[in-house]
Amino acid sequence: MAAGKGTRIKSKHPKVLHEVGGKAILSHVIAAATKVIPAPDVYVIIGHEAERVRQAVAGTGVNFVTQSEQRGTGHALMVSRAALAGKYDQVIVLSGDAPLITPQTIRKLIDFHVAQGSAMTLLTADLENPFGYGRVVRKGGDAEVNAVVEQKAATEEQLEISEINSGFYVFNTEALYQHIDKLSTVNAHAEYYLTDMAALFNGAGKKVTAIKTTDAREILGSNTRSEMVDLDAQVRHSKTKALLDQGVTIFYPHTCVIDSDVEVGPDTVIEPFVQLLGMTKIGSDCRVRSYSVIENSEIGDGVTIRPGTIMQDSRVAKGAMIGPYSHLRPGSDIGEGAHVGNFVETKKVKLGKGSKANHLSYLGDADIGEGVNIGAGTITCNYDGVNKNKTIVEDGAFIGSDSTLVAPVTIGRGSYVSAASCITEDVPADALALGRSRQTIKEGWARQKRDQRKGKS
Ligand code: UD1
Ligand code: CA
Repeated sequence: MAAGKGTRIKSKHPKVLHEVGGKAILSHVIAAATKVIPAPDVYVIIGHEAERVRQAVAGTGVNFVTQSEQRGTGHALMVSRAALAGKYDQVIVLSGDAPLITPQTIRKLIDFHVAQGSAMTLLTADLENPFGYGRVVRKGGDAEVNAVVEQKAATEEQLEISEINSGFYVFNTEALYQHIDKLSTVNAHAEYYLTDMAALFNGAGKKVTAIKTTDAREILGSNTRSEMVDLDAQVRHSKTKALLDQGVTIFYPHTCVIDSDVEVGPDTVIEPFVQLLGMTKIGSDCRVRSYSVIENSEIGDGVTIRPGTIMQDSRVAKGAMIGPYSHLRPGSDIGEGAHVGNFVETKKVKLGKGSKANHLSYLGDADIGEGVNIGAGTITCNYDGVNKNKTIVEDGAFIGSDSTLVAPVTIGRGSYVSAASCITEDVPADALALGRSRQTIKEGWARQKRDQRKGKS
């Protein structure tokens, strides 16, 4: 269920697309669901901002049901009738706003439901602070449930119940669709509550059961911004824990921001205040030093990322050294053992094996070969005001410091560009290019100037 607006978060973005652990809340739920149920059998109920939500998760291969008007969780299942009835024996209902659910718990819920032969099984949890959740009214002390009472409708006595409804259920499909039309909207929100199915089934002599989670944190919802921040902290905490268990060292892990889909190889060391975001993959035996922010990038084994490096949508091959203070913009492809150093900005650049650009450069739209030396302050002039043009630097070339390479231009294999050159024409292989004016010397000029000044005063 992901059709609701999420009024309580006061946002123009749909609640289920807000992120925890750097990933949409709904994507977490879908990831857990598709580990238990094949994606084509998963139906996401969308409504509020349906197109945005659909597009955000379409890549997972799930199906969609549109609930154009959001008239409650019961209504969400009513509009799903055509997709589900007659097709499946059981319907597993998951709340799209509770991202910590695990595949193991979904599996357990299904198995319990089947073993009990129930019409409806709820996943529940004991919460120290059950405020806001539906309370589970058990029949006596056994596995069966009489009803679920929403916060606003609960009596003083029911508000004392610490067992809450998680919003995850299994239904017998036939029973669900036989009785769902009996739901009413006579309640505080004037909505069809799916939770009312518990009382309805009891009235019809059908069995309703509940199973408690062992870890209550798994079912926490994200109805408010502060709940989201708590969930985010939990997701990141378990991510860090998992990486540590896999052989990664993370110093002061509470200062690092590591998204849930990030991968890091063993014996890699992550220093304090590092952010690893999106689909970033880091090899083994790397060191990522403080204040680096790495997003959607792939880093090979044995790479050193020095402090303050910023990297997006880039690749760095094994043994390379980046930083301090390098900015690798999208499309940077840094070769094996290459160096990119202090205050170097790259964009759509291939820097070949063993090549070095160690200081103060801008390298954009360039194809740079192997064993090339890019001197301090070199700039590829890639933009002529209309088009982006390409610079090619062939293997073994040497670009002297403070050179400007005006693209489109090719610097031939093994050639030299003298320092402070402005290169506007191709340089042939093995040549020397001097693109600067010759130096002139005026003997005694400075002394004369000083003498003149003294004479005046
Ligand atoms: C619901 C339960 C409550 C439970 C809690 C657990 C009901 C009536 N109450 O309350 O017992 O303790 O979850 O988190 O079900 N949605 C739709 N279509 C709609 C309305 C909601 O798809 O018409 C979706 C929402 O996008 C959300 C999920 O259903 O992902 C739950 O809805 P929400 O409004 O958050 O329900 P709660 O008030 O949290
Ligand atoms: Ca909720």
